[in-house]
Amino acid sequence: MYRLVALGLGYLLGGIQSAILYGRFKGIEIRNHGSGNAGATNTLRVLGKKAALIVFLCDVLKAVLAVILAKLLFPEMVLLAGLYAGIGAILGHSYPLFFKFKGGKGIAVTVGAIYMIDLPTALIVSLIFIISAWITRIVSISSLLLTSFIPILLFVFYKGNEHIVEIVTLGVVIAGITAYRHKANIKRLMEGTESKLGSKR
Ligand code: G3P
Repeated sequence: MYRLVALGLGYLLGGIQSAILYGRFKGIEIRNHGSGNAGATNTLRVLGKKAALIVFLCDVLKAVLAVILAKLLFPEMVLLAGLYAGIGAILGHSYPLFFKFKGGKGIAVTVGAIYMIDLPTALIVSLIFIISAWITRIVSISSLLLTSFIPILLFVFYKGNEHIVEIVTLGVVIAGITAYRHKANIKRLMEGTESKLGSKR
């Protein structure tokens, strides 16, 4: 039962789509510009640094809130409840109920959630993202790397836990959603046409 409640709670909070709302506040539909993605990276491309920072922080915050609420509701199951709430928030952000199910790719949400779920994992994947983005100047490849390491690190840090299979499976689900949401980016990466940081397209 706690799994469904945490998932639902995360989904509803995740659906507060800051990139779409901020875009509308500025008079544009973000999904019709740049990569068409309703997220911080595309907001940076289309609306600039300040807008991107606001969107990033709002997306991080809604995931933080979702995981904290799930942990408070289910104190005996903090790790699993947090993971379900985080996945709910990623799904709500990517397929938002009130925005025709067309949202973002869930990276800022994943970051917010993972910081509340497991700090060592969060710090390592953040470092991986920063190094990758610094070297490649490509956000999508860095996002894919970030989420790929989540199940690996969860395995390393929780291998003695009685719920290890479920924990790692949920990590794989997070990485899987990211890969699925980045289909177009992966195609562009293979064609060598993916947008780099600082590029307007
Ligand atoms: O956070 C999303 C990022 O990984 C890619 O965004 O707009 O370049 O498709 P975008």
